[in-house]
Amino acid sequence: MERTFLAIKPDGVQRKLISEIIGRFETKGFTLVGLKFMNVSRELAEQHYGVHKERPFFGSLVEFITSGPVVAMVWEGDGVIAAARKVIGATNPLTAEPGTIRGDLGANIGRNLIHGSDAPETAQSEIALWFKEEELVNWQPTILSWIY
Ligand code: PPS
Repeated sequence: MERTFLAIKPDGVQRKLISEIIGRFETKGFTLVGLKFMNVSRELAEQHYGVHKERPFFGSLVEFITSGPVVAMVWEGDGVIAAARKVIGATNPLTAEPGTIRGDLGANIGRNLIHGSDAPETAQSEIALWFKEEELVNWQPTILSWIY
C-alpha cells in the first residue's frame, strides 16, 4: 500500500482549516497513519525544501514554514501520492481548479495551505525526514466488515 507525506502549512493552521483539509482526505477514503502538530525548525525546513535551494523564493518558503505550527501527516492508500496531489490542486491557488483544496480555499502562491509529496521517492524520503518509524500506526480500517 502506498504512503504519502502531507503537511498543512502555517496559513492553513492560522485560518482554522485543519478539519476542512483533513476531511477531504478522509472522505476520499484514504487512511491516516501518522499525525503530529508541531513547530518546524529551520534545519528541518531547509532539508525538506533542499531541492529548491537555488530558487528565488527558497528563503521566503523556509521563513514561512517555520513561522507557526504545521500539521504533519502520513496518509495511506492505493495511488495516494498522485491522488493527494489532485485533491490539493495546482501550486498557484489562483489557477488551481475549483474542487481542489487550493482552488477552493487559497488565494496566494506563497500561502497555498498544504504540501504534498510529488513522487514515490520524495514521499519515502519526506516520511523518513518528518516521522520516526514508531510514530506511524500500521492499521487497516475494518469498516467494510461492519457494513456487509
Ligand atoms: S511542486 O509542488 O514542487 O511541483 O511545485 P513547485 O512549483 O516546484 O514549487 C516548489 C515549492 O515552492 C513553493 N512555491 C513558492 N513559494 C513561494 N513563492 C513562490 N512564488 C512559489 N512558487 C512555488 C510551492 O508551493 C512548493 O512548496 P510545497 O510546500 O511543496 O507546496
